Formats: sequence, structure tokens, C-alpha cells
Amino acid sequence: MASQSAIGIHDLSFATTEFVLPHTALAAHNGTDIGKYHLGIGQHSMSVAAADEDVVTLAAAAAEPLIARHGTDRIRTVVFATESSIDQAKSAGVYVHSLLGMPSYTRVVELKQACYGATAALQFAIGLVHRDPEQQVLVIASDVSKYELDSPGEATQGAAAVALLVGKDPALVRIDGPSGLFTADVMDFWRPNYRESALVDGQESITAYLQAVEGTWKDYTEQGGQALDAFSAFCYHQPFTKMAHKAHHHLLSTCGYDTDAVDVKRLIGRTTAYNAVVGNSYTASMYLGLAALLDHPEDLTDQDVGFFSYGSGSVAEFFAGRVVPGYRKHLRTEQHREAIDRRGTLDYAAYRELHERSFPTDGGDHPTPVQTTGSFRLAALRGHKRIYERR
Ligand code: COA
Repeated sequence: MASQSAIGIHDLSFATTEFVLPHTALAAHNGTDIGKYHLGIGQHSMSVAAADEDVVTLAAAAAEPLIARHGTDRIRTVVFATESSIDQAKSAGVYVHSLLGMPSYTRVVELKQACYGATAALQFAIGLVHRDPEQQVLVIASDVSKYELDSPGEATQGAAAVALLVGKDPALVRIDGPSGLFTADVMDFWRPNYRESALVDGQESITAYLQAVEGTWKDYTEQGGQALDAFSAFCYHQPFTKMAHKAHHHLLSTCGYDTDAVDVKRLIGRTTAYNAVVGNSYTASMYLGLAALLDHPEDLTDQDVGFFSYGSGSVAEFFAGRVVPGYRKHLRTEQHREAIDRRGTLDYAAYRELHERSFPTDGGDHPTPVQTTGSFRLAALRGHKRIYERR
């Protein structure tokens, strides 16, 4: 049990796109009252990928600082979680492995279960570290969220990647205790192989999400988990930030608490700052919430955080983590703020043009326009192969 409590997240870094679309521009285009976006769903802007960015370039940008700080010697596994996959066979993680110059003695694999994939990756990583505590696992969650133009989902797009280094004696968060699990076969959100944008039944997805909150909590309790008031903060999956508040209200009333008497804003508010301006980053979303919580000035040393991870379709998990003494020394708060602040603002027409872009499927040589100023870019699609470059 002693070794079990000493495994978790040793380092965390995130990256987002070259561009951003403010919700004011979307509201001006479609005539929506901005209050619906700012208050109703809790979103202010969304990251938009440049023509030469994708889940691989975002992932490499997120993971590069971890490799620079810790090297690659102990990383024998890379798990890449995404639901905006670029290939049906090859793991996007293999491109990242190559871009980061990682050694050949590495296993690399891609995982998928909608927005839940990164939590499966984290749990599998913890299992691998138990087996050999000298090893570390690089978990990367990377997604570009894309819904149809002029659909209700359009306002909840976004894009980001989070890289987590998982190992023993973690410097940030120990993952402790049991998990509460919940799976139900529902069609709230899905993307058939032939489609670029997801299909979603928005209201159904909110209902399914709230059922999963109840289901995971019931199982967590039955597995001997902690009481609800043991937690100082909760990181929820945030398809839009208001969802985290809805979810926690639901959990409180399920558990018989008076929701007016509990300071929900205090328990959730510190996790939403990045998601509110990045938008939905699918697999990365809950871990972006963790980044915001850790980067928040309030000290969390030795405090317990509850995590609720949800992936449509649906699979969900509730688990707990304890923030490690000294964690502040290892944070990347400046880098995270810079990743958000450096984005160039698009007008609605430029966003629409990027949204509608897709590569020809003829196998020809198709260079991409140079747009990103980041370290990694998708340079071309040539003979059906994606060509990446590192600057
Ligand atoms: N000022 C303040 N709030 C306003 C408002 C205004 N002018 N106009 C509307 N609102 C509120 C609504 O009351 C509602 O709040 P509530 O849910 O607390 O009742 C909220 O804004 C959203 O309005 P709604 O009419 O439900 O929006 P919508 O039909 O455009 O759908 C989503 C919203 C999130 C369902 C839609 O964006 C979507 O499908 N997103 C993708 C799927 C997703 O994110 N699912 C989540 C689970 S994974």
C-alpha cells in the first residue's frame, strides 16, 4: 500500500493553438446574446488550430518541456489519448516520439474512448509504474474539437494538448485510493470514421454526463472511497465550464447536501480559468482543469482533489489525488499563461475558412501554408503521408 500511494503525476505541461476566436465574434455572426456564451455555458474564447497544426504538433509542443527537464532515460512507454485521431492504424504518438528524438526502446500506443481516454492512459501508466517503479510513462492527451458550423456545438469547440509524466514519488499529485467506474451504451456524441466533425445530441450528452456522475460516485463509495467533504476541489471534465458547476450541483444533491449551503464556486472555480478561454479540448480538458487549479495562487499542499473524467458513449471514472508538498516549485505557470496569451485573434471569416479546410485525398503532394510560429508543424501531406517538421 505504501508504494501505491507514492505514484502519480510528476510533471504537467500544456500547449494550445496558434489562433483564438473570441465568443464575441461568434455571437456577432450568429446573433446570439453574448450572455448565453459568457454566463450560460461559461466560455469566452476558443483555440483554433492553424492549417499546419494538428494533434501531433500540439502534443509534441506539450511534451517537449517535460523531455527537456527530465530526459528520456526512464520513459519506456508513451500513451497518446485522442478522439480526433489522424490515422486508423498508426499511433499519433509515434510521430511525437520521432519529433522529440526519443529512444527506440519505447512502447508507443494510442487510446480512444472519447474524452475519457487520457484517464484510462493515466490509470494504465500507474499500473506500469507499479510493475517497475524505476520507469516513467509519458501520457499525452491531445485533441482538436470540431463541430459543424452554425450548430449548437460550434460554441463549444477548442483545442489543446496536455502532457503528464507519471512516475513514483511524484512532485505534483499522488493518485490515491480506489476508482469509481461507470459505463453505459449511449449515443450522446460520436464521430463515424467518414466524418471530420462530431455528431452530438447536446441535451442527451448533458443527461448522460450527469448519470455518469451519479454512477461513478456510487461505485467510488462502494469501493471504500473518501467522503465528499474530504475534497478541497473537484476537477471535472469541462466540455464547457458551466458543465462542471452543473455536475457538482448534481453530485451534491444526489448526496443529500443543500446546494445553497455549499460554496460550489470555491470547489470548482479554480479549475475553469484555462478551459474558459481554450474551449473543449476533449481528452485534455480535465487535465487543463488540473493545470489551472495547481497554477492558482491558493496553496493546495496535502489537500485532496476529486477528479471526474467523462467520455461520451459513455465511460466515466471518479478518482482522488493528493497534492504533494513542494509542488509549486515544479509548476509551469508562466509557460501556460504564455501559451494562452500568444495566440493570434481571428476574425469570424478567417476562422470559418480554417474550419472548412481539409486535405485533398488524391495522394498528391500538398504542402500546408506556414501559419504556426510554434516549434512543430505539419509541413505537408505527401503520398498519403503526413510530413512533420521541427524548427
Ligand atoms: N444569458 C445567460 N444565459 C443564457 C442566455 C443568456 N442570454 N441564453 C441562454 N442561456 C443559458 C441557458 O439557460 C442554458 O443554461 P442552463 O443549461 O443552465 O439552463 C445555457 O445558456 C445553454 O443554453 P441552451 O439553450 O441549452 O444552448 P444550446 O441549445 O445552444 O446547447 C450545448 C448548449 C452545450 C448543449 C451545445 O453547445 C452542445 O451541444 N455542445 C456540444 C456537446 C457538449 O458539450 N456536451 C456536454 C457533455 S459531454
